[in-house]
Amino acid sequence: MNKKITLLPGDGVGKEIMESARVVLNTIASEYDHRFSFREHAIGGEAIDQYGTPLPEDTIQACEDSDAVLLGAVGGPKWDGNPPHLRPEKGLLGIRKKLGLFANLRPVQGFSSLLHASPLKEEVINGSDILIIRELTGGLYFGRPSERRNNGEEVVDTLAYSRHEMERIIEKGFQSAQIRSKRLTSVDKANVLESSRMWREVVGEKAKDYPDVEVEHLLVDAAAMKLITEPNRFDVIVTENLFGDILSDEASVLTGSLGMLPSASIRTDGVGLYEPVHGSAPDIAGKGIANPLGMILSVALMLRHSFQMEEEAAEIEKAVNECLEQGYHTGDLDIKDGKKVGTKEVTEAVIENLTTKSVSNSICNM
Ligand code: NAD
Ligand code: IPM
Ligand code: MN
Repeated sequence: MNKKITLLPGDGVGKEIMESARVVLNTIASEYDHRFSFREHAIGGEAIDQYGTPLPEDTIQACEDSDAVLLGAVGGPKWDGNPPHLRPEKGLLGIRKKLGLFANLRPVQGFSSLLHASPLKEEVINGSDILIIRELTGGLYFGRPSERRNNGEEVVDTLAYSRHEMERIIEKGFQSAQIRSKRLTSVDKANVLESSRMWREVVGEKAKDYPDVEVEHLLVDAAAMKLITEPNRFDVIVTENLFGDILSDEASVLTGSLGMLPSASIRTDGVGLYEPVHGSAPDIAGKGIANPLGMILSVALMLRHSFQMEEEAAEIEKAVNECLEQGYHTGDLDIKDGKKVGTKEVTEAVIENLTTKSVSNSICNM
């Protein structure tokens, strides 16, 4: 298959882990006889420096014209003092909105070799397998333009949602629950927010169309606690934009590191964007020690969701698992006995497992 992929490495470790994505894709291309063509474009801080905007027009064009988009990360201290429209994060929010990517899937699956890498007790996290579905193009992130008023003594951010925006993401939650374990947890703050009360209404209405799905409602504060004390009670979680952002970083603790989590940002049809959940990690950028596995697992999600390459996606996930079982890991994972190495070496270990596998495959096929 021939696929056009737009690469948006962005800032900080985004650039380093994008190289890992590229070599993994090249390996898959040669093992499976696919053709992936890459076009790299600027976004975030780098785009501000080069083009004076965090989201240049030709970056948007390239994304719209491609079969899928891969993104590293954006942001960094260099741009933290910039005015709102010249912040790197504005570029990321802009491309999500432009492409209509309202559904952000954040799977949180622990690898068995990482059970000891989490600060949480092994018996608590063992077996946890959660899909966080985060609404991505509404809520506080996209309300009316924020304002400072009264001589800068007051500030207003607005949380706005239409019923339609709630319906489509909640529907996605039910559909995902139906093909998983038929349990859906809806997270809100209905004891305080009117938007959450409407969210609950919509969940109640949609539930009638999915009588086989068991629904529970949790308030976000309690959900945050239960996520790390009883992770096994969760299967699919559906929630609004900001709650989903916060809960997914928290849930990464179940896997041992934020550097492990991939994500898929999709809409009903059309181009999807795939990126790790973490940010540009300025504290470790440029050192060659960033964990590339969240990015590599995002490549697997891209192959599965945008290209229907289930087998290739599963091979990548297996190769990541083997890499960890062989002990290769970056320093963000707290593993006692193992081979603590850099981004490049972890990526090489994954590639090695991908290619070894296919050699034995081809021998079997002969
Ligand atoms: P962060 O996710 O960049 O880092 C949080 C912590 O996790 C840091 O200690 C970092 O070193 C570590 N970490 C993150 N990814 C890692 C990896 N792959 N390997 C090893 N360790 C990793 O969050 P932050 O420090 O709060 O934000 C830094 C910048 O990133 C900010 O400008 C923020 O806006 C931006 N950000 C961007 C995205 C994105 O592009 N999707 C996501 C989150 C934050
Ligand atoms: C994420 C990030 C972004 C978000 C920021 C950088 C705008 O934290 O992708 O999780 O809040 O959505
Ligand atoms: Mn986040």
